[in-house]
Amino acid sequence: MNNITVIGSGTMGNGIAHVFAQFGYKVSLVDINKGALEKALATISKNMDRQVAKGMLSEEDKNTAFAKIKTFTSLEEGVRSADLVVEAATENLSVKLDLFRQLDELCKEEAILASNTSSISITKIGAVTARPEKVIGMHFMNPVPVMKLIEVIRGYATSDEVTSLIMDLSKKLDKVPVEVNDYPGFVANRILMPMINEAIYTLYEGVAGIEEIDTVMKLGMAHPMGPLQLADFIGLDVCLSILRVLYDGFGNPKYAPCPLLVNMVEAGFKGIKTGEGFYKYTPGVKEFIVSPQFK
Ligand code: NAI
Repeated sequence: MNNITVIGSGTMGNGIAHVFAQFGYKVSLVDINKGALEKALATISKNMDRQVAKGMLSEEDKNTAFAKIKTFTSLEEGVRSADLVVEAATENLSVKLDLFRQLDELCKEEAILASNTSSISITKIGAVTARPEKVIGMHFMNPVPVMKLIEVIRGYATSDEVTSLIMDLSKKLDKVPVEVNDYPGFVANRILMPMINEAIYTLYEGVAGIEEIDTVMKLGMAHPMGPLQLADFIGLDVCLSILRVLYDGFGNPKYAPCPLLVNMVEAGFKGIKTGEGFYKYTPGVKEFIVSPQFK
């Protein structure tokens, strides 16, 4: 397995392309948006420079790795020689189903089709292809070059052979793969999102303020950041949509999103990406303050 195609060159796609290139794979990076591809190459170069500065890569390794990445706006050209496709396009069911139908037509018969989805069923994605045994989840964590985990998700029809190929490949990227089955939220988000939701309920019910909740979880549980800050980092809209997947998938009221979260997303306070969520962020400034909405 040598030719990897990464689809979508946003936050996750650029990191996934970076890691495959760093470990010697030929990478085709595909995006419908040319600007996103240009931005991704600039981000990859900057992040590789950071690895050089830290002594993790030599200048020569960086140049070799960077040269392995080719960009495409045409899906057909980008997947022609792919042994493995890792899809990291926008988290939207119809976008993913449409892409996998096309991938199934365009890719060679033996190619494995993986998705980096955070919450969409791998079984559902596999079922729109004629090769569900070769469809699998490869859930990388953000930021991809730094985070060690890959949640490897087996759809209902994913074969043992494909699962063990992807587990081995993940290790070659110096990651730690963990095999899980395909149920709503997989493992990571099934546990993380109810914790974030409970933190928001704790705030909503007036048990404690934002900084107090985050401090308890940071210092009490040794988490690197509190759940409310983490929610801002992930995006409150993303948290809400994953909670809805859990709520719909299990039909269990314990996953019902906190009304405060729903209100904040509807008001456009989505966290770092909009400049304000539980905290208020100033572009280019590391420090941030509690959102004045909560004063
Ligand atoms: P993003 O919005 O930063 O990037 C998505 C990219 O996909 C955009 O550049 C867009 O132009 C492109 N795209 C959309 N439709 C396309 C198509 N049909 N063909 C080619 N490119 C297309 O999104 P992000 O955050 O990188 O998320 C990508 C995937 O990774 C999603 O499934 C998300 O759930 C998952 N994920 C995100 C994490 C995060 O922290 N952002 C963490 C783990 C998984």
